[in-house]
Amino acid sequence: MKVKKKVVFLPGDGIGPEVARAARAVLHECAREFGHQFEIVDLPVGGVAIDKSGNPLPDETLDACRKADAIFLGAVGGPKWDSVPLTKRPETGLLALRKGLGLFVNLRPVKLLDALRGISPLRPERLGDLDIDIVRELAGGMYFGERGNVVEGGSERAFDTESYSTPEIERVATFAFHRAEHRSRRLCSVDKANVLASSQLWRRTVNSIGSVFPAIKLEHMYVDNAAMQLTLRPAQFDVLLTTNMFGDILSDAAAALVGSIGLIPSASFGTSAPLFEPIHGSAPAIAGKDMANPIGSILSATMMLREAFGLGLEADWVEQSLGRVLAAGFRTPDISEPGTNTVGTAGFLELLNLEMQRTFEHAEKYGWGV
Ligand code: NAD
Ligand code: IPM
Ligand code: MN
Repeated sequence: MKVKKKVVFLPGDGIGPEVARAARAVLHECAREFGHQFEIVDLPVGGVAIDKSGNPLPDETLDACRKADAIFLGAVGGPKWDSVPLTKRPETGLLALRKGLGLFVNLRPVKLLDALRGISPLRPERLGDLDIDIVRELAGGMYFGERGNVVEGGSERAFDTESYSTPEIERVATFAFHRAEHRSRRLCSVDKANVLASSQLWRRTVNSIGSVFPAIKLEHMYVDNAAMQLTLRPAQFDVLLTTNMFGDILSDAAAALVGSIGLIPSASFGTSAPLFEPIHGSAPAIAGKDMANPIGSILSATMMLREAFGLGLEADWVEQSLGRVLAAGFRTPDISEPGTNTVGTAGFLELLNLEMQRTFEHAEKYGWGV
């Protein structure tokens, strides 16, 4: 079956455009080999959009995303816009995009790639078979609560509010329980219910959704302990459900365990088209230097193929090819180790393209698609 899909690309700032090129190349090769059609439109978001129009999320960008079948985002932000007022920052554009598209779930799969076991900062016996689906709430919590600045008795006070409603918790928890049903049937919900009222409601609500899924083993953990357990014994986690803020922090920490934040993709779901983005930022220090790891972006594209378009075979094809490029010892600088061949972002992509063609031509030999 051939598909025809509209995809909006939002490359953004810093290394965003460099890694977006990788996702685009994957879609392009996939269309060429399998006869699918991906109609791709590029639009500005973040710092580049501020420079063009003064607005980090122009109306045309949001409108086009609303009409798309899927959206890909590179990264936004950078020192150039750090002094812009909070309401106009590149990052605010990204939050407005997530909110505007009704995206309330952000799935961040943190999984060891076989060829990269050696680059983890954890010893193999600690690392185990790390494979965690982090389900991060994306449309609520402190990111979207009331915030402000006041002057009291001559000094300034600033505040941000963590707040969740029962339906906001129910919808993301339901997603996480479904995810756990298709994995090892274990779900760990992370909160700070020993201190925060919002976390107490979170825990109660997750428990009540849990009663609808009796086959899933539900556990609760405080976020401070979860941060520690992630580093100590990460393989104990399967599906990890948490709030917007805690999920942001824990997913970067989990990314470190597999060796680089440049490796981790994500998919966001909600009431409109899904959005796919690597979890890293615009990495200003390496932008424009052909040093960015494109794997988080490539895997975001395979999540798009699999989760948005139902193209599992094509996603397997890309991932197997990627595995072989890594197994042959080719690495971007952030994941290089003694005995490997360090290549740039563009060089890595060329190798992947060649390997995808080879995999396609020798499907039987590689046991792919059979
Ligand atoms: P960052 O993720 O950009 O970088 C953190 C570290 O990881 C840096 O050392 C960077 O060089 C490295 N790194 C990140 N991605 C990499 C990749 N693909 N390959 C190799 N190394 C990589 O986080 P930061 O430095 O805290 O933030 C920089 C800017 O990005 C800020 O403006 C921030 O707000 C923004 N940001 C955007 C997003 C997003 O668009 N989704 C996510 C996080 C941060
Ligand atoms: C991420 C980023 C964003 C977030 C920022 C840039 C708004 O850190 O996607 O992880 O905090 O969600
Ligand atoms: Mn983050």
